[in-house]
Amino acid sequence: MEATTLIKEHGYVKQTVDPSVNLVAEIERLKKEKNAVILGHYYITGDLQDISDFLGDSLALSRQAQKTEADMIIFLGVHFMAETAKILNPSKKVIIPDLNAGCSLAESAPADKFAAFKAQYPGHKVISYINCTAEIKALSDVICTSSNAELIVDSFDRNQKLIFAPDKNLGNYINSKTGREMVLWDGACTVHEKYSLEKILELKEEHPDAKFIAHPECEQPLLLVADFVGSTTALLKYSQESDAQKFIVATESGILHQMQKNSPDKIFIPAPSIDSTCGCNDCEFMKLNSMEKLYLCLLHEQPEVILSEVLMEKARQPILRMLEISKKLKR
Ligand code: 13P
Ligand code: SF4
Repeated sequence: MEATTLIKEHGYVKQTVDPSVNLVAEIERLKKEKNAVILGHYYITGDLQDISDFLGDSLALSRQAQKTEADMIIFLGVHFMAETAKILNPSKKVIIPDLNAGCSLAESAPADKFAAFKAQYPGHKVISYINCTAEIKALSDVICTSSNAELIVDSFDRNQKLIFAPDKNLGNYINSKTGREMVLWDGACTVHEKYSLEKILELKEEHPDAKFIAHPECEQPLLLVADFVGSTTALLKYSQESDAQKFIVATESGILHQMQKNSPDKIFIPAPSIDSTCGCNDCEFMKLNSMEKLYLCLLHEQPEVILSEVLMEKARQPILRMLEISKKLKR
C-alpha cells in the first residue's frame, strides 16, 4: 500500500521494517542525503534522544527551528511542536513520525470555545503556553513556554489585564510568582496532574537527602513542597549543578535519560503517580515516536505537517514576539 494511503488510515507509515536494516546507519544516511535535521524533545525515548541532532525543551527547540539551515525538519516530539517549527519555516518540509502524537493540554483548548471565552474579557491580552494548537496561537498576543513564562508575563504593564491559556497549573504558578491575577483557561496535562502528593511526601521521608524537583504543569500543592520548579531544561541543569546526589523527579520520565547521562553517579527517582499500574509518568503521545517510525518517515518524507498560509501568518506573530522577548534570557 502507498505511504499516503497508510498515513490516511493510521496517521503514520505502517510498514514492516526488515529486521536486518541497521536503523541508526540508515537514518544517518537518509538525513545527510536529504539535508535534514532531527529536533528532539527530552520526553522521547533514550534511543531517539541519542540520534537527535538537537535536543531541548520547547523554547530551545523553537529557537533551533528558527535558525536551522537544513532543508527538512524531522520533529521528534508532539504535533504542536512540529507545527511551531513549520510556522517558523513555512517554505521548509516539516515531518513528524506519527500524526497521532497530540497533547492532552493542547486538546483541552478547542479554538471555538477559546474564542468565545476570550470574547468575555474585552481589554485583556492573551498569553498562550506553546502547548496549544496553531489556531489558539493565532488567537493570542504572545506565546510562552515554561522556560520564559515569567519573563513574558512581566513584559506587560502591571495594569494590563491578561488571559493565560491553556494550562491552569502553569498560569496559577506564574500568578503566585508575579502577584498578577491573570484569568486562567481551565486546561491541564494528564501526565503532570497524575502525581500523588501523598506518595511523594512518603518518598521524601524515605529519602531525606533527595531534592524534589517538579515541572510547573504539576498541581499547586505539589509545587509548594518542591525544592525546585522549572522547565525540563531548568530541571536538567539543576540536577547537574546541585550538590545533592539524589532527586525525585516530577515530570515525564524521558528526561531521566538525559539526567542520568549528564550525572552518571547521581540517583534519579521518578515521582510516583496516583495509580502505580498506569505508567502515568510516560506521555503516551511522546512515546508514539519510535526508531522504526522515524526511519520510515525520513524514507517517505511523510507524514508532513501542513497548515494554511493564513493560519501560519496569524500564528507566527505571537511566536516571534516570544522569541524576541526571550533574547533577554541567558540561554
Ligand atoms: P518544556 O517547556 O519544559 O519543554 O515542557 C513541554 C511539555 O510538553 C511539558 O509537558
Ligand atoms: Fe502534552 Fe503533557 Fe505530553 Fe507535555 S507531557 S506533551 S503537556 S500531554
